[in-house]
Amino acid sequence: MTAQLNPRGDVAVLVPAAGAGVRLGPGAPKALRPLAGEPLLVHAVRRIAAAPSVHTVVVAAPAADVDSVQAMLAPVAPVIVVPGGAERQASVAAALAAVPAGPEIVLVHDAARALTPPALIESVAAAVRSGHDAVIPVLPVVDTIKEVGAGELVLATADRSALRAVQTPQGFRRAVLTAAHATAGDPLTDDAGLVEKQGVPVVCVPGSEYALKVTRPFDLALAEHLLSAGQAG
Ligand code: CTP
Ligand code: MG
Repeated sequence: MTAQLNPRGDVAVLVPAAGAGVRLGPGAPKALRPLAGEPLLVHAVRRIAAAPSVHTVVVAAPAADVDSVQAMLAPVAPVIVVPGGAERQASVAAALAAVPAGPEIVLVHDAARALTPPALIESVAAAVRSGHDAVIPVLPVVDTIKEVGAGELVLATADRSALRAVQTPQGFRRAVLTAAHATAGDPLTDDAGLVEKQGVPVVCVPGSEYALKVTRPFDLALAEHLLSAGQAG
């Protein structure tokens, strides 16, 4: 069985989906929890598959759910499913190891960002294709951010104009991401962080509010509302 989407595409999308979803509260692993009647992961993969540059999708699923995730996604898109790891970084590394020869652009995209528009996936891929080694979608920060220490005492106030909230998909030239993961140390919460440590320049492109990460119950409610209001594609 071939797991290719578009054989002429130049993009592999890695989908870390093996997290528990502790902040969402008790229940199934987050990627498998329902949003408007379908698992978050189904929403995410459907939008990835709608991006025309995508050649291959590799999902890192909870180890106990690899077979059920494969069956669940079969009607949505051809995907490769591998067992994820204990940390997000290990799940991404497992997915990266399963990418077949061919795609030279690799995107890493959280299953939890289930409503991400295909156009954002394309714009990150296009920025890598145009010559950037590492690309992240960002939004301006709306709240003032303070650094806080022991006893909840404020230590410092950041200059908000220089801050960005970082989303996924994060895009990389394949060799750059492979090299970063080969030398990875302590787990980080995003892949651009690994690449930064290698001294590779990381460039920002505009993100999308629809690429919000479903993290807490409020986010799930917001995503449900956006879908039912017909505001998310
Ligand atoms: N992820 C993963 N493997 C892990 C941890 C996280 O593949 N060991 C994935 C999640 O499934 C999610 C993405 O990484 O799609 C972003 O992580 P996060 O939003 O933190 O999800 P969870 O770890 O599931 O949530 P929580 O931290 O609340 O438990
Ligand atoms: Mg987590």
